Amino acid sequence: MTDAKSYVTDNAAEFKWQADDIFGRIATRYDRLCDVFSFGIHRLWKRKVAQQIASESWNILLDGATGTGDIILRVVSQPGVEGRTILASDLSPKMLSIAEKRLSKYSATVTLKLLDAESMPSVATHSVDAYSISLGLKICNRRLALQEALRVLKPGGRLIILEASNIPWSALQRMYLLYMSICMPVLGWLATGGDASAYKYLLKGIREFPSAEDLADEMAGIGFEDVAFERLSFGIVAIHTARSPGLQSKPPHAINGMPADGL
Ligand SMILES: C[S@@+](CC[C@H](N)C(=O)[O-])C[C@H]1O[C@@H](n2cnc3c(N)ncnc32)[C@H](O)[C@@H]1O
Repeated sequence: MTDAKSYVTDNAAEFKWQADDIFGRIATRYDRLCDVFSFGIHRLWKRKVAQQIASESWNILLDGATGTGDIILRVVSQPGVEGRTILASDLSPKMLSIAEKRLSKYSATVTLKLLDAESMPSVATHSVDAYSISLGLKICNRRLALQEALRVLKPGGRLIILEASNIPWSALQRMYLLYMSICMPVLGWLATGGDASAYKYLLKGIREFPSAEDLADEMAGIGFEDVAFERLSFGIVAIHTARSPGLQSKPPHAINGMPADGL
């Protein structure tokens, strides 16, 4: 359980799925919205994180907040993934049913599961080799979600996160936020046919989400080791990786906390 104050602190978007089934409402338009809000750049971020996930050593991967399966579709097409087991989970049945259709030809590898990333009692402790979550941490209580990730990961298991982050140059960050706060309502209004919640949560989540450095500190505070991050697109998003304790630490996976070029 978490008190009201820490819920606001830990849930950047202040999204409460029990009160608003926004993802159920926008499920069929979600992939188009991603293209509209990011001008298509989310495809590059997702390809990059899928490559990172696939390059990790795991037999069982749990993907939280999998949505329409956009990340896992990219993971299964990476070399070496066939024959491994992927559990793709989300708490929105409508998002999951789209993921199920999109991933149907990979049913030997991918199983869909209805799970709340904040509490996954049906997933055994120390049962998965890797846990990934993309663009979901800002709309749930990230402290609870990270604690659950730590619980279900085997000792030495890998955590991979793609999430909104911060541009380290403050003037540029301010311009980006200003641009988003002007553009997003207009684009969001047009793309959703007037459903304001989609961009309201997104904007709040982006504004309130911790910087890459602060998220890394939070992950370490929760108990993860070898925490590292890479900024993409100047820091609009970042990929964080970490290891659950229990095995001798290995060097971080080709990720160095420096801005990446070209994305
Ligand atoms: C922005 S989408 C991201 C989907 C996908 N990972 C992607 O990158 O395209 C966020 C997803 O998180 C799910 N979600 C929100 N809160 C959640 C929670 N507590 N547990 C599991 N899924 C959650 C929503 O249903 C939605 O499908």
